Amino acid sequence: NPMYEANYSEVFEFVLLGLSTYRPVQHFLLAISTVFYVIIVLGNILVVFTVTSDHHLHSPMYFLLGNLSFIDLCLSTLTVPKMISDLYSGHNTISFQGCVIQIFVLHVLGGSEMVLLIVMALDRYVAICRPLHYLTIMSPRLCILLLSGAWAIGLIHAVAQLAFVVYLPFCGPNEIDSFYCDLPWFIKLACTDTYRTEFVVTANSGFISTGTFFLLIISYIFILVTVQKRSSAGLSKALSTLSAHITVVVLFFGPCIFIYMWPFPTVPVDKFLAILDFMITPILNPAIYTLRNKDMKMAMKRLSVQLLSLRKF
Ligand SMILES: *[C@@H]1O[C@H](CO)[C@@H](O)[C@H](O)[C@H]1NC(C)=O
Repeated sequence: NPMYEANYSEVFEFVLLGLSTYRPVQHFLLAISTVFYVIIVLGNILVVFTVTSDHHLHSPMYFLLGNLSFIDLCLSTLTVPKMISDLYSGHNTISFQGCVIQIFVLHVLGGSEMVLLIVMALDRYVAICRPLHYLTIMSPRLCILLLSGAWAIGLIHAVAQLAFVVYLPFCGPNEIDSFYCDLPWFIKLACTDTYRTEFVVTANSGFISTGTFFLLIISYIFILVTVQKRSSAGLSKALSTLSAHITVVVLFFGPCIFIYMWPFPTVPVDKFLAILDFMITPILNPAIYTLRNKDMKMAMKRLSVQLLSLRKF
């Protein structure tokens, strides 16, 4: 349909301005992000592989952890390799379709991860406050149901977001002041009054992330208070598990809230904060859960022994 074509864009690609246009800073970013990305890939694949292959770890907490690592790996892979190649080649454009696909997948993954973090809080609540019923409540069936729910909600959220922006007209300006495509920057380039669209997007992503964030913080406080009433010895143990979760939650949600709710567009802190979501939390999860967790360490030891003995044949 030629009319539709003419309508919807003379913009066939966007220019991603990246984090900095200053050459020495770009070299630094190239080196850092390459190192980080390699660690993210290895670390998260290690977690997924250990969780799925070791039957001692076949419990709800580790399944959720494996799934979290999988989503983190996807989130990083969606943005960081493109950023690395842009920095390396200096060719920093992305096609219109590429940009829309990146936004869509980003919101599917982001939405699912938010729900997954809620499910993980629920899992900790049951494990700490109802330990005797843990395995009957968090049955494999419920886990699969909750995980499917997480993906379904991520998908619905992303479709709802895209439905509002996919028909926006674009007619010229095509510079995105970030290293990846996301709605706030995308919408600003449209050649129309985007006030209402911006409002809908802010409401959808902004309020969901803010709401989920407070829900999680409140549930962690609730768990800690419940534990503390019973015994203070239990509190210090719970605190050490939960502080890891809370750190991840703060680092993951902080940038999301900023990106969608920050009201001062002239101060571009949002693209720097986004680094936390794509390069820091994906490292943090494997780091926290593998280095601090005895069962995980044991499982990895068994795995490496197995792999070594395999090589002998
Ligand atoms: C994700 O969770 C499901 C259901 O609990 C589990 O079967 C699967 O192994 C998990 N995936 C990973 C990568 O851990």
